[in-house]
Amino acid sequence: MTLLTLTRPDDWHVHFRDGALLAATVPPVAAVFGRAVAMPNLVPPLTTTTAALAYAERLRAAAANPAFTPLVSLYLTDHTTPDEIARARVAGLVAAKLYPAGATTHSAAGVTDLGRLDPVLAAMVEHDLVLQLHGEVTDPAIDVFEREARFVTDLLAPLCHRHPDLRIVLEHVTTRAGVAFVQAAGPHVAATITAHHLEVERSDLFKGGLRPHLYCLPVPKTRTDRDALLDVAISGHPRFFLGSDSAPHARAAKESGCCPAGVYTGHHTVLHYAEIFDRHGALDRLEPFASHHGADFYRLPRNADTLTLERAPTPIPLTLPFGPAAELVPHRAGETLAWRLQD
Ligand code: DOR
Ligand code: ZN
Repeated sequence: MTLLTLTRPDDWHVHFRDGALLAATVPPVAAVFGRAVAMPNLVPPLTTTTAALAYAERLRAAAANPAFTPLVSLYLTDHTTPDEIARARVAGLVAAKLYPAGATTHSAAGVTDLGRLDPVLAAMVEHDLVLQLHGEVTDPAIDVFEREARFVTDLLAPLCHRHPDLRIVLEHVTTRAGVAFVQAAGPHVAATITAHHLEVERSDLFKGGLRPHLYCLPVPKTRTDRDALLDVAISGHPRFFLGSDSAPHARAAKESGCCPAGVYTGHHTVLHYAEIFDRHGALDRLEPFASHHGADFYRLPRNADTLTLERAPTPIPLTLPFGPAAELVPHRAGETLAWRLQD
């Protein structure tokens, strides 16, 4: 197959940042995806419907593509109220994001006690909002490679039990345990899988030296875990779908003494996924994963138009512009992808 036409895909988890950076981060995503769920971990975080709507407007302006729809999720804190959830729904928001406080980039304002959020979660059921989870425990005593698996057993399982009707997405799942939990859960529990977690195992972070551009959270796990993600992504399971977690950081920060978490795939997201599915003989499963399952889970219509890829080389630049004064290093910089967007 040299041409691959799919229902236009959506990215259900992406970081665009804000201000002068939007000109670099939004157009490449808006040129490919019908919709993208923009993460609200800005400074300050988008904790109100008003702030989320204003951000959606900035994203729309930066996209310069009226066919692209940015979806912004609401940032949950210890102080989010059920009324805010009702307002979010009336305003057309479809999801709220739960960052355990301290789990990752700009999560300091996140939730410290999931148990105390129950009235908000009940309101999310009532108003039909999807809960997006950064699924890692934050106890510093727990090994960083164990934090997702512990989140699943200690927090997610009881949460699903308390709120069986809440629609939940375990974002950027990285473990076999996380995959197994979602597979065994009911129709209300799903997961996104990033392209980089389908490729990278934890040893790759240390291959020939420390690789800051592969450092992200949740941190990639073992080969067995990576293979569990691959198996389920290409299996056609309807509750696993595309969420790139493309997360740009300036090169200077990534290559500093304390590298922030984030892998940037944004300019080439769909091409990374196409290459991975192709390598595993599953190109026919790319469309459901990238274009159908997410829309179905979010109860939104599938996109009506299509995107065509062709089997032709796409070189990934060594760097990309990132705002007026910085650059970023894309995932697999300097390598060549096997697929290209058709003009
Ligand atoms: O690697 C990550 N980067 N994981 C996250 O959870 C946040 C993200 C970011 O905002 O940079
Ligand atoms: Zn993210």
